[in-house]
Amino acid sequence: MSTDKLDISLIREIQTLKEEGRSKPPERIIKAYIPPKGDLGPRYKMRGSDKEFIRLNSNSYLSLSNHPEVMAAADRATHDFGVGPGAVRFIDGTFIHHDLLEQTVAKFTGKPAAKIFNSAYTSNCGLALSISNKKTHWIGDQLNHNSIIRAMRISNIPSPNKGIFKHNDMDDLKRCLNEVSTKIERVVVIFDGIFSMRGDNAPIDKINAICQDYDSKFKDGVITVVDDSHGIGAYGDNGRGTPDYCHSSPDIIVGTFGKAFGVNGGFISASKTIIESVRQKADTYIYTNPLSVADCAAATTAINICAGEEGLGLLKNIKQRTKQFRDGLERLGKESIPGPHPVIPLMVRNTQKTCDMVQYLFENGVLVVGLTFPVVPKGDETIRFQINACHTSADIDYVIELLDKFE
Ligand SMILES: Cc1ncc(COP(=O)(O)O)c(C=O)c1O
Repeated sequence: MSTDKLDISLIREIQTLKEEGRSKPPERIIKAYIPPKGDLGPRYKMRGSDKEFIRLNSNSYLSLSNHPEVMAAADRATHDFGVGPGAVRFIDGTFIHHDLLEQTVAKFTGKPAAKIFNSAYTSNCGLALSISNKKTHWIGDQLNHNSIIRAMRISNIPSPNKGIFKHNDMDDLKRCLNEVSTKIERVVVIFDGIFSMRGDNAPIDKINAICQDYDSKFKDGVITVVDDSHGIGAYGDNGRGTPDYCHSSPDIIVGTFGKAFGVNGGFISASKTIIESVRQKADTYIYTNPLSVADCAAATTAINICAGEEGLGLLKNIKQRTKQFRDGLERLGKESIPGPHPVIPLMVRNTQKTCDMVQYLFENGVLVVGLTFPVVPKGDETIRFQINACHTSADIDYVIELLDKFE
């Protein structure tokens, strides 16, 4: 047996992706982490270069990945319990670390219960498998993350049971709700908390109010779900995410430990009954080994830091640096999408210029991501900057100066 014939077809398919501009470039590889020193934040070394880089494309908003207490918690858990769980959750793969993390997440998100997953991606897919039936209708924002789109696809609904509303357009959300068949028993309205390519947030208070108006029309009501992967820990007065910012909590919160909390893994928090349904029905929870105890201990410690004084201090630094960066862009007359989130898009609106700027920043020791068609619509080409708590005032000044010098 050989895969020669398959290889030929796959090469053709990959070539098509390239021609459509949808293929991914080769991955850059980080070979060293250099801790902060003096007035400079941490730096990274990349394979193939001796230069030191500032990372302005990391989701680790609170910079907890390298926090000594978070790392020590992971070390301790590994030392005491080993590196892997040895089985899935329902076959004695559940350790005290899993249980404690679930309790911590429930409390942090203000919900009665929570379940943890290997990622937010698998959390969304698991949620879809848990709460959907043939009489469920799903409605989502047009800019929702790929994992939500995938979750809607695997939710097993007949194809008409789906509506997409224009990004953050509440009239269009109402249109979608008005179009739901009277035979439907359950409606799920699902949206990103923070839209990661833009840094803007879903108006959860408005969405909740609209959905409330339609709730009595359906046997099981209208359920609101936020995937707050980019908001949780990094947004709102207390870092509790987009619900905190909007002063309004949806019925179900999905999130990740892999961004502001600096670790890995995902979660769903909701009522005890929804979470029991997840435990019984979410294949991406049931039939896969859980997170390691190290990940769980690290995530629990990270959340506790975020919930305390230190977390508020880190949040304050993110806000200050975000403002500094935004003020700098404004001084240079650069266009962005306004908002207080640490995702700051620089609207370049030209593919070649976006690629040139990303390369120029790389050559000057700055890691950023350029977003071009088809990731964003033609004309919306963007460079995404992400501010982390570890960035210093000098780091931000350096990047703004570079942008100023770009021809
Ligand atoms: C809204 C949203 N959901 C899910 C994910 C995936 O998170 P994870 O890496 O935990 O699967 C991301 C991150 O890319 C995201 O932005």
